[in-house]
Amino acid sequence: MTVKAIINGIPIEVAEGTSILEAAKKVSIKIPALCKHPDLDHTAACGICIVRIKATGRTLRACCTPLENGMDIVTHDPEIVNVRRGIVEMIMSKHPNECVTCSRNQNCELQTMCADFNIERSDLDNIVPDLPLDETTRAVTLDPRKCISCGRCIQVCQKDQNVWALTFMERGIETRIAPAGDISLAESPCVKCGQCSAHCPTGAIVEYDEGPDVWQKLMDPELHCVVQIAPAVRVAIGEAFGFKPGTNLTGKIYAALRRMGFKAVFDTNFGADLTILEEGTEFVERFAHGKGELPLITSCCPAWVDFMEKYSAPCRRPTTPRRSRPTPRRSTWSRSCRARPKSMRSSATTT
Ligand code: SF4
Ligand code: SF4
Ligand code: FES
Repeated sequence: MTVKAIINGIPIEVAEGTSILEAAKKVSIKIPALCKHPDLDHTAACGICIVRIKATGRTLRACCTPLENGMDIVTHDPEIVNVRRGIVEMIMSKHPNECVTCSRNQNCELQTMCADFNIERSDLDNIVPDLPLDETTRAVTLDPRKCISCGRCIQVCQKDQNVWALTFMERGIETRIAPAGDISLAESPCVKCGQCSAHCPTGAIVEYDEGPDVWQKLMDPELHCVVQIAPAVRVAIGEAFGFKPGTNLTGKIYAALRRMGFKAVFDTNFGADLTILEEGTEFVERFAHGKGELPLITSCCPAWVDFMEKYSAPCRRPTTPRRSRPTPRRSTWSRSCRARPKSMRSSATTT
């Protein structure tokens, strides 16, 4: 079933149930949206996507309203643009003015929205809530001051990951994002999957940044820094540099790490092969000779392992090594390159 309607004077036909936001995209009309993420259901929290029904003047949120037969929609007029601008200004009045030092700088949907509406600073009083940073997991960093209450992280953590680590605390202007129960993230059921940070539109939840510490060690002439990359990195990193998804960048990664100053680059490949052999042997022992429980499930993802251990009661810790690093660093490598083991620092890169 399809519906026929008009958006900004352009006739359109879309499948029944298509939101006005999605329908507008099909005719290249961009309605600004902040709380709606393409992967997630609408939370309809921000109100930036308002549009108007031409005949009645009634406004609707485009992200959560399906286009209906005969609708005649206006997506942009001076009044609508002013309302949207006001919403962004209001958000900015509660937001710390720290874009330059924020790890989402130039990759932040709120910053882009400010640029689109030509908002350099809010005329409203700037009242930034005094809330502490949570870096306790050393995997994701939660800065509730930068939260715009879009609800994306909660949705992905609760519905998609089924972890329920995050929630909104308080109500109204006091609303803030926090681990459920107002404990630290490390004490919460968080499995450190990073899905919240991947969906957060601002710098409120980001990956914990080890970069400054690594750079400091690389610049220390007393230290001998080596690095080891996980197999997933060689492909995953490409998209961040505009390569086609799936491009293998192993050589480029080695070269870049050496240019950064690492004295040696190790690859987890060999350790991964050993792990596969060990897991295969263990499976044969369990399956063919009845030595141990079944099923045997393996994963390289620490978040997945954490999830299974926390949420799957009968799941026992793996007996095979959880880390597939051949760890040649302090012992073998320090002998072969004559570095003093105490001066060695190692980094592991994973995705
Ligand atoms: S890292 Fe994953 S489990 Fe932890 S809060 Fe974020 S989405 Fe939830
Ligand atoms: S932390 Fe980020 S994703 Fe979660 S509600 Fe706040 S702004 Fe939205
Ligand atoms: S994008 Fe529609 S209400 Fe936020």
